[in-house]
Amino acid sequence: MPDPQLCSEEEIATLVQRFYARVRRDEQLGPIFNARIHDWPAHEAKLCDFWSSALRGTRRFHGTPMPLHAALPGLTAVLFSHWLQLFDETAATLPNTALRERVSHLAHRIAGSLWYGYQLANPATETSTGLQELTP
Ligand code: HEM
Repeated sequence: MPDPQLCSEEEIATLVQRFYARVRRDEQLGPIFNARIHDWPAHEAKLCDFWSSALRGTRRFHGTPMPLHAALPGLTAVLFSHWLQLFDETAATLPNTALRERVSHLAHRIAGSLWYGYQLANPATETSTGLQELTP
C-alpha cells in the first residue's frame, strides 16, 4: 500500500536524478533513452510523479507506460534485468532503508509486468526468457 510517511518528495527526486544520470551514461540503455527523450527535466519530473503516486499515493501520475514501452523496438529480458540492476544499485545509495526496499520491490514487479505486456504486444520477440529473472 502507498504510504505518505514512507519517504519525502526530495528523497524521490534524489533517486530519480541519480538513476537517470546513470541511465544516460549507460552503454546499453543510454542510446535508447537519448534517442527518445529530448527534455530530461520534464522526463524526470514525470518519473517523480510516477514514483510519488506509487510510493506515497499522491495520484499525480497520469501517463501510459505500457503502450509507450510496448512501442520501443528491441527490448529484451536482459535489458530489463540490466535496468533493474542499475535501479537497485541506485536505490541502495539511499539512507532510508524502508524506501529502498519498497522501491526496489515495486520496480521488479512493474518491470515484470511491462516485460509481460511487451511480449504480448510484440509476439515475434524473444520469448524463451521467463519473468522469474525479473522478480526479486
Ligand atoms: C529496459 C527497460 C526500460 C527501458 C529501455 C525504458 C525506456 C523508456 C523510455 C524510452 C521512455 C520514454 C517513452 C516516451 O515518452 O516515448 C520511458 C518512459 C517511462 N518509463 Fe521506462 N523503460 C524501461 C523500464 C521501465 C521500468 C521497469 C519502469 C518502472 C518501474 C519504467 C517506467 C517508466 C515510466 C513511468 C515512463 C513514463 C511513461 C509515460 O510517459 O506515460 N520504465 N521508458
